[in-house]
Amino acid sequence: MLFTYRDEHRLRDGRKAQVRFKTPADRKAWRRFVTLVPDDSGHAPGTQLDVADLSTDYHKFDGPYMIAVVDGEIVGATFVVPPDLTMGYHKKHAIEFHMDVLPGWRRNGVGGTLLESLVTWAKAQGDIRKLEAVFLGWNQPVVAMLTKAGFEEEGRSLRSWMVRTADGAVDYDDVVFMGLWLEP
Ligand SMILES: CC(C)(COP(=O)(O)OP(=O)(O)OC[C@H]1O[C@@H](n2cnc3c(N)ncnc32)[C@H](O)[C@@H]1OP(=O)(O)O)[C@@H](O)C(=O)NCCC(=O)NCCS
Repeated sequence: MLFTYRDEHRLRDGRKAQVRFKTPADRKAWRRFVTLVPDDSGHAPGTQLDVADLSTDYHKFDGPYMIAVVDGEIVGATFVVPPDLTMGYHKKHAIEFHMDVLPGWRRNGVGGTLLESLVTWAKAQGDIRKLEAVFLGWNQPVVAMLTKAGFEEEGRSLRSWMVRTADGAVDYDDVVFMGLWLEP
């Protein structure tokens, strides 16, 4: 798998975003980006976070990230989850990813641009046939974004995710699986 990609996209506000994989030279901009991503990103508004949510924050991982850069600042990123080698060859064709766009940059085409770039990159790899995303049921923005890009819901684990809210109430959310099969 080659983590190389570079393209320029025009955002909705007319600005240009450069999309490419993160390199060691992005260290400072990356640190700023990680600081600006809210801890509760991807969680339902009002969720009382668990310490585990912070320690598993994928932005701290040292993995391949496709980033969107505007005027030298990273405004969105897609974490390409490395294939699980313990699965042998069985999962080599499928890539799971997680995406975050900075709150101030949402609804400006950054997420859609990153997704389009991820699909283009994945198709160019040859051996990747599927993209997969896993997220919580409340998350309509991500459902809308993925559906627009051709993803389909493939499954849902009902009430699989316990959520405590700030006022101490408990609720249960679904874990949703959406996928896109890539034709060669
Ligand atoms: C989901 C997320 C990545 C979308 O990024 P974005 O830059 O705002 O997305 P875009 O502006 O490119 O929108 C692309 C499409 O997504 C859909 N969409 C995005 N945000 C939406 C919202 N709040 N409500 C409804 N649809 C939405 C729309 O279909 C949109 O196309 P349109 O603007 O032509 O209608 C962003 O909201 C985010 O970072 N959320 C928090 C992290 C998260 O939940 N990640 C998902 C885990 S994979």
